[in-house]
Amino acid sequence: MPEITPAESQALRTLIARDTGLSFDSSGLARLHSGVRQRLAARGCASVGDYVRLLASPQETDELVELIDLITVPETRFFRDQRQFEVLQQQLLPELARVRRAAGAPPEIRLWSAACATGEEAYSLAMVALEALPGWRVQVLATDISQRALCIAARGHYPVGRLDPVPPVLRTRYFERHGADYVAAPHLRAAVTFQRLNLTAAGLQLALPPPMDVILCENVLIYLEPAAVARLAATLHTMLRADGYLLLSASESLWRTSSQFVIEVRDGVFLHRKAPTPAAGTDTVPDQDSLVSDPRQNRHDRLPLGRQPDRLSPSVRARGEMSRDRPGPMPSLADRPTPAATSGTPPATSAAALLAEAQVLADRGAFGAARALATRACAAAPLDARAHALDGMLAAQLGDLPAAVRALERAVYLDPTLPQTYYQLGTVYRRLGHHERAQRALRQALRLLDRQPATGSVADTTAVLLAEACRRLLQAP
Ligand SMILES: C[S@@+](CC[C@H](N)C(=O)[O-])C[C@H]1O[C@@H](n2cnc3c(N)ncnc32)[C@H](O)[C@@H]1O
Repeated sequence: MPEITPAESQALRTLIARDTGLSFDSSGLARLHSGVRQRLAARGCASVGDYVRLLASPQETDELVELIDLITVPETRFFRDQRQFEVLQQQLLPELARVRRAAGAPPEIRLWSAACATGEEAYSLAMVALEALPGWRVQVLATDISQRALCIAARGHYPVGRLDPVPPVLRTRYFERHGADYVAAPHLRAAVTFQRLNLTAAGLQLALPPPMDVILCENVLIYLEPAAVARLAATLHTMLRADGYLLLSASESLWRTSSQFVIEVRDGVFLHRKAPTPAAGTDTVPDQDSLVSDPRQNRHDRLPLGRQPDRLSPSVRARGEMSRDRPGPMPSLADRPTPAATSGTPPATSAAALLAEAQVLADRGAFGAARALATRACAAAPLDARAHALDGMLAAQLGDLPAAVRALERAVYLDPTLPQTYYQLGTVYRRLGHHERAQRALRQALRLLDRQPATGSVADTTAVLLAEACRRLLQAP
């Protein structure tokens, strides 16, 4: 089998990124190269160069479809993030239905599983909607770029073990047993429409007409290059109903990518909603005090996305009291003050001060006391990624791994640009035995490190060491 040279590899990546938005960092390259070798043999190409020319040929569009099946990652499962589906069933869908009823709209709801892989997500979505809205017409659009994955999805046959996350009552109601498989029952299938779709293409034509009440676009942004993510964010915005919900996975967000969405938090689940359209001539940044609120009073934390930190630091704007305390971005943790407990100054109350104190205590090894402050910082600024990252790291130190996962997932959700937070998350997943999730988090850390420009400072050495640690863990059993 011919070797793939760096120049050929680059040509392949450029071609694939242009047509699909997929990006391959060092960890994804093995998958790409293996797929290319398989297709090269299947097409009888004498060299990688021949295969690149074939792939680029306008007459050979089917070749890309074949290759995509080999290089995408159709990893999924039923009710992958259980909390999301609970919030959907118990809160979002009933609320949307109430609004539609009050407006005299027909009892119809339209949902989109935007990268459905082998279909588990789309069927989960259909089940919760059918359960939440009896008597309503539920329509789920299930799309994916992988033809092979989509065929499995449309067939709806799953080995018995795949149904483990499905509650028994739903299994009985929506699946039929056929030998060693469960098969989606006709009334469940009838709710789902399948379509092969490249999410990053221009001018998408959906098989179900938009707008969508709810869109799930989970675990796909991480495979796309930044420009494709920005295009996709604009598409999702266009396809979403004005009062609809966009759900991403717990470790993805459109933070700093799109200013068209705001985040809302419901029972720990992060939701993207369309940002209010500013009135002509007004500031495009909504007043934070009106956007941030207390979920316990049945209101919700909301934060606009897509702002540059210097213009609108998420941490500073997350809570009104923070911007009053310190009118500017949060200070670097390097500029930390002496902890109040030792300096005799009054106890800190602002999130920035709590966080700085927590960091100092953590550096001294006082993890319990540090964690207490970090947790308070999270409560004071629930949308501050660094507070959650520190809280998660300290929870991990103290052996509270479930809490560490929750905090670190929230941190990467709020700021998906920090490789060290992904690294921490990967190590905690490993300790919990979640190897697949650990691999994903570590690969994402590597991907971010790959993209970091060299600065010529000590930060470069830190990045090299972190990348090495990620690779070691990725290769470890
Ligand atoms: C890891 S799976 C996620 C499946 C499901 N959303 C979940 O979270 O369980 C990622 C899916 O994204 C699909 N995908 C990748 N790039 C895509 C693109 N440009 N357009 C549509 N689907 C894409 C892949 O084919 C794959 O099935």
